[in-house]
Amino acid sequence: MPKILLVGNGAREHIIASKLAASKDITLCIFASAANPGIKKLSQSYQVGDLMNNKEITTFAQKEKIDFAVIGPDEPLGNGVVDALMAAGVPSFGPSKTLAQIEGSKSFARNLLVKHKIQAYPKHKSVSNLEDAKNWLGELASEFVIKPDGYTRGKGVLVQGDHFQTQAEGLQKVSEVLRHDGKVLLEEKLVGEEFSLMTITDGTSFVHLPAVQDHKRAFEGDRGPNTGGMGSYSDANFSLPFLKESDVEVARSVNEAVVQALFEETDLKYKGVLYGGFIAVKDGVKLIEYNARFGDPEAMNVLGVLKSDFAEFCQAVIDEKLGSFKASFEPLATVCKYVVPEGYPDNPLKGKKIDASGVDQSKVEIYYASVDEKPDGVYMTSSRAVAVLAKASTIYEAEAITEQEIDKIKGRVAHRSDIGTKALLEKRVEHIKSIRNI
Ligand code: AMP
Ligand code: GLY
Repeated sequence: MPKILLVGNGAREHIIASKLAASKDITLCIFASAANPGIKKLSQSYQVGDLMNNKEITTFAQKEKIDFAVIGPDEPLGNGVVDALMAAGVPSFGPSKTLAQIEGSKSFARNLLVKHKIQAYPKHKSVSNLEDAKNWLGELASEFVIKPDGYTRGKGVLVQGDHFQTQAEGLQKVSEVLRHDGKVLLEEKLVGEEFSLMTITDGTSFVHLPAVQDHKRAFEGDRGPNTGGMGSYSDANFSLPFLKESDVEVARSVNEAVVQALFEETDLKYKGVLYGGFIAVKDGVKLIEYNARFGDPEAMNVLGVLKSDFAEFCQAVIDEKLGSFKASFEPLATVCKYVVPEGYPDNPLKGKKIDASGVDQSKVEIYYASVDEKPDGVYMTSSRAVAVLAKASTIYEAEAITEQEIDKIKGRVAHRSDIGTKALLEKRVEHIKSIRNI
């Protein structure tokens, strides 16, 4: 009876926990930073502690005699929790610190792809002074994007046309980032439709997950500040309405090439999920960023349709036997929407109650994110609170179901009602058609 440690307590970890708990004969132990009511119910032991304290996590793993760990969030991966657990005899589903740099360091990721001739990145330049920035921009024909290095979860990126308008305004922002960080990455601005393509790997074999489109902007119509993701959808054919088959194939092969390049570079096998953030553009597919974990909310879409036993899946990754594991997925469309506190992300109401008890859980699945369970109810923090996932034969049907059930959630909350609607999807398809002249 394997004992599994899950690190993390967001909605992504809630669905990971529920998939693991559905496996036969497993015991689930959780190391979390807060009391997630959904995850708590699924686990035999639940410790609240500091996710960035490797010693606390390994001590808990040893006390619980854990067989293997699954690491949910990016920061513990970047902090080397997988290496610390390994040194304590506990293998993990999740990359070691060195390999997690593919997410944690944009410069590491870019250097790796350039060195291994994986031509997926837009034009870019890392600069450490304003003069170099001016010179590079002088040669660039398009608008540009400013990216601080490190873990920004998409929130630190500044896009011309959105976050600043003119080149002069952009340079002002560049000098602010330089003052703070000493260096900054500049990038050609790409125009297209973004999608996430996640691949589970044991370092040698690959299982590609359905493509997903997340919605980073806080407000309807893709307006407002960037967030961790307000909601996402996937389609029954595991592609997306605006993608060609070749777009998905390119994304898959870039992910495979990156795992191979990581191995050649480090001699280490990447075990876990590699998340490519891609954008379909005029002449194909480009890469925006890599993450070393499941996306959140994308985890809900892809694990929501996973038919195979997830504990066995993780075990196959850890044992490097993914090549002989048969992964299968239900051919269903999914829509996941996040319910957030009013005012999120800039001025969220903090510490308000949320009550999802009226939701019909035979129609949707509910995954708790940044909430804290107290004796008198579930409280929101200042971040995304509850993810609502529906599955159906079409995206539109799944969307309608999420709306019906979100209406039943009580509290001072907001969500994006446009995600997965016909109007928004048609806009995406028209956008690609106009870019690709089809
Ligand atoms: P990142 O942190 O690299 O994922 O970027 C966050 C968001 O900024 C992305 O999801 C895009 O919406 C936007 N973005 C990043 N890089 C570019 C780019 N080169 N062109 C256009 N938009 C971008
Ligand atoms: N949904 C974006 C992310 O997980 O980074």
